[in-house]
Amino acid sequence: MNLPLRLDGHNQPDLPPQYYLDNRIYTDQHVFELENEKILAGTWRFMCHASELKETFDYRLVQLGGHELILLRDEDGALQGFYNSCAHRGARILRQPAGKLDEGRMTCFYHLWSYDYRGRCTTVSQPAGYQHSTVKKENTSLKSVRVESIFDLVFVCLNDDAEPLEDFLGESTIEAMRVPFGTAELEVFHIHQTEIECNWKLFVETNCEGYHELLHLLNRTTAVAQQAYRSRQWRMHRNGHLSFDVAKIEYEDLNYAKRGANVLPGMETNGHVVVNLFPDMMLNCRSTVVRLDSLIPVSSDKTILECRGLGLAGDSDAVRAMRINHHNQVWGPTGVNLAEDLWAVQSQMQNMLNGNSRYSVIAREEEGPMSDASLRNFYSEWSRLTGIQAHQPV
Ligand code: FES
Ligand SMILES: [Fe+2]
Repeated sequence: MNLPLRLDGHNQPDLPPQYYLDNRIYTDQHVFELENEKILAGTWRFMCHASELKETFDYRLVQLGGHELILLRDEDGALQGFYNSCAHRGARILRQPAGKLDEGRMTCFYHLWSYDYRGRCTTVSQPAGYQHSTVKKENTSLKSVRVESIFDLVFVCLNDDAEPLEDFLGESTIEAMRVPFGTAELEVFHIHQTEIECNWKLFVETNCEGYHELLHLLNRTTAVAQQAYRSRQWRMHRNGHLSFDVAKIEYEDLNYAKRGANVLPGMETNGHVVVNLFPDMMLNCRSTVVRLDSLIPVSSDKTILECRGLGLAGDSDAVRAMRINHHNQVWGPTGVNLAEDLWAVQSQMQNMLNGNSRYSVIAREEEGPMSDASLRNFYSEWSRLTGIQAHQPV
């Protein structure tokens, strides 16, 4: 009997090309630069939740594709976005991560040029010195960026040619997000960032495949062990977006309380919703509480993970405390699942960087949650946008 070439992470696997990855897609600087241009700065990216910019002139700084941007709420309640770079000579305009504009004004600290909440220049200091030139406040502004929201989720796109956000998401993805995002008025109660020593795609993958539920005691016990769970499937939507069928999680099997009280509007007792938006966002609702994950890829081997916890706007203190408790059972800096995911992806990255892992296998085919079809779908979209074959990137 002829055995295929040994599968050892070093030899090219004897598989069809879409069933394996050349790990240089995670380590190669050229690949990172290309995906930064075509994907990270080329498509709509989640930046924050509208509840973080509740009041007029609230602002926060966000990072996208290596750029720092200002997001703020203007006088009409609309969200505006600008590069955080002065039109004069490029100094940072705002330097605190979040806050409120004083009377809707931003003043650059270097030579004191000022801008209003629409990015229009209102003051050029000592203007007489520019009388001989075309420099006038009337034709000076911060460079704006496209900002659009859906269900209070705020996205930015640096690509002027990209389709509108709702078209990018598509009807079926929006439908998958509707409960609870379109049925509940949510607000953020927790944000934390974690610096991860890995390529951004490794963390995306751990959020969009069900096979690794075997890593987590919580998932093994409360999900994978249930007969009914085996029919859960990933659904592919346009532009690389994914949703996982809604499922029931048996928290009681791990001696946690059932999640039947104060469930978010539209959710069921113990219901679990997962939607992954291409390229790097995960929406995750466990009946009473929401987690939003998004990424700030810094370099090919460094990524900042940003996690948000959300409850219902107007929660009483007691109900909010329950939601925070449920959030922290699984997620948050002390939740078991996040630490386990980080151990996995960082160990992968180390072996990829030191040459011990040259190829990865994404060949699972089955009806159920553990198919790798979701990963193959991600790489199909990734290849379409970058023009690179994931099994042969250089
Ligand atoms: S760089 Fe901003 S005022 Fe000069
Ligand atoms: Fe995980």
